[in-house]
Amino acid sequence: MGKKIFSGVQPTGNLHLGNYLGAIKNFVELSNDKDNDCIFCVVDLHAITVKQNPKELRSNIRETVATFVASGIDPKKSIIFNQSKVTAHSEAAWILSCSARTGWLSRMTQFKEKAGKDKEKASVGLYSYPVLMAADILLYDTTHVPVGDDQKQHLELCRDIAQKFNNDFGAENFFKAPEPLIQKQFSRIMSLKDGLKKMSKSELSDLSRINLTDNADQIINKIKKAKTDPLPMPSNNEELDKRHEAKNLIGIYSSLTGTKLEKSINEFSGKNFSEFKEILSQVLVEKISPISNEISKLLAEKNFLDSILLEGSEKADKIASKKMKKIHEILGF
Ligand code: AMP
Ligand code: TRP
Repeated sequence: MGKKIFSGVQPTGNLHLGNYLGAIKNFVELSNDKDNDCIFCVVDLHAITVKQNPKELRSNIRETVATFVASGIDPKKSIIFNQSKVTAHSEAAWILSCSARTGWLSRMTQFKEKAGKDKEKASVGLYSYPVLMAADILLYDTTHVPVGDDQKQHLELCRDIAQKFNNDFGAENFFKAPEPLIQKQFSRIMSLKDGLKKMSKSELSDLSRINLTDNADQIINKIKKAKTDPLPMPSNNEELDKRHEAKNLIGIYSSLTGTKLEKSINEFSGKNFSEFKEILSQVLVEKISPISNEISKLLAEKNFLDSILLEGSEKADKIASKKMKKIHEILGF
């Protein structure tokens, strides 16, 4: 039987290689299997958990759709929509927030990271963020959720919320507990400037990430400046594990080319980083430039991008409202 796939990406700009290798590449593969029903959501409600400039948000929503399509998701086969246009998401988030326990939420590491030192100043939305994510997933009877490694904890919470709701209301199997689909290897791409930090949209230095909109010169420059260590390239897995920057770069190479890690290590063992970096840049330009060219083409076609979202949200709304109706019945509304 095919899978019911749901995943979301925040329209917060700067979609990067981590988003691509950790999530979007997987979306494309899953959506190419005609047995799967796929829904890809631009999670604009999640984006406003931290301050957004409305004009930039609007353009980032379009850029996220453009990135999905440029990467190879066919809007005719998969549903692409933005969360705010299907009101069931906000409604279900409220309802599920009455099943979720505050103790569960206070264990979420992403909140701790994003809220920083002054937790009292974080928005309530940032705290309840994973409940909205559970709503996204559960409204569509999702069976599988492709995400990067950092979202694993949120998916476990989603399963707990589903189970608690079902138990509390004697509604066996009403919400389906989804399975995460996380790449076994290279599920966490690290910053080009610090092998211990996740590659991230919000990192101040643009040199820390390869953006999916970067051109060939930018990619080559960023790889040239990527942090390494003074030793020659590692010759075995053990050595690699101790050298975080080398591990990240070889991981990126392996993931992009579909090569086993061991094979990549052997290929470059003992060589200079400069030699490896040249090859890595070539591979990156080969894979990323077509996407980045297509994104800039699509960005000029605003009406086309908006029509994808409109059509997608109508389809999503049909599924979500049906589920919402049943939720009302179960609750006694
Ligand atoms: P976000 O940009 O936070 O909405 O993330 C979109 C998707 O990209 C999620 O599935 C994340 O888990 C994934 N992702 C974000 N950053 C990385 C990274 N550095 N490495 C791997 N996956 C990532
Ligand atoms: N929280 C996810 C992230 O930051 C984005 C997201 C929102 C999501 N809703 C989702 C991912 C539902 C998968 C399923 O990356």
